[in-house]
Amino acid sequence: MPTRTVPTGSVPTGAVPDTLQPGPPSTEIWLWRARRDQVREGEAWLSDRERAVLSGLRFERRRSDWLLGRWAAKRAVAAWLELEVDGALAGDREPDLDRIEIHAANDGAPEAFVDGAAGPSISLSHRAGEALVAVARRGVRLGCDLELIEPRSDAFVADYLTEAERARVSGAPMADRDLLANLLWSAKESALKLLREGLRRDTRSVEVRLADTQGAGGRPGWDGLSTVVDGDLRSAHPGGWLRDGAYVVTVVWSSGETAARSCDPQGVGRR
Ligand SMILES: CC(C)(COP(=O)(O)OP(=O)(O)OC[C@H]1O[C@@H](n2cnc3c(N)ncnc32)[C@H](O)[C@@H]1OP(=O)(O)O)[C@@H](O)C(=O)NCCC(=O)NCCS
Repeated sequence: MPTRTVPTGSVPTGAVPDTLQPGPPSTEIWLWRARRDQVREGEAWLSDRERAVLSGLRFERRRSDWLLGRWAAKRAVAAWLELEVDGALAGDREPDLDRIEIHAANDGAPEAFVDGAAGPSISLSHRAGEALVAVARRGVRLGCDLELIEPRSDAFVADYLTEAERARVSGAPMADRDLLANLLWSAKESALKLLREGLRRDTRSVEVRLADTQGAGGRPGWDGLSTVVDGDLRSAHPGGWLRDGAYVVTVVWSSGETAARSCDPQGVGRR
């Protein structure tokens, strides 16, 4: 499975969900995919606190999405720790997933804990039975999002996208418009997650700018983007996007903070 590179930071991913390939030593952000049918049965892999949260979720769809997100995030964090502590992924160990907890902070953003200590930064998304998790060293602010490339109405584009984004969609060939609308939306959601505000913030206060070198025509590999908040170019966050089959994947991270990988195994706890 190839490791693909985005302009700043390396983001390994792949079509085979629930696997992770070691990237180069400079790798700073990992993406992890998982499908619903890979989630381990039962609740033994959840911590007591997570089981308590699950018991409060009444709707089956929400329970299922929540479990999928937890499963993917725990696997991703376990792999991240293995890489940090051992320098390589052994791949043959079954991690103690109940020692890794994924909790929603008061604002809803997921946070990882390992044996009770703060773990790496994470962001997560689930869509149509698949999950995406981004992991980076603690302190990096990041957001990721997974969207199905599906038809988006004119009303959706008009309501949620900025003027420049709308022009980009309407100026694209018809065949590219659904990809573009979902890509812009996904990158916007990634940025809203990085900001930890989600849809509490006006989606038009974040503008997505795609790298001019690509045409949003579904080229294989990652392309660059940036997200500008409240028109302030100094606050632009770099990111990348990838078309992956029926999905579009986006990830956005805090500018400058991923320039150098800095691992602190003591801080994240050893398994
Ligand atoms: C962040 C948000 C835009 C994502 O929604 P979405 O695109 O439908 O769903 P995704 O699957 O891509 O992402 C969901 C994950 O985003 C994460 N998330 C939720 N709120 C977040 C926030 N404020 N910041 C960062 N991440 C957040 C969670 O991990 C969530 O999954 P989980 O609840 O199973 O742990 C949305 O949940 C939101 O706006 N939340 C904050 C406001 C809120 O709670 N509103 C109530 C409903 S409008």
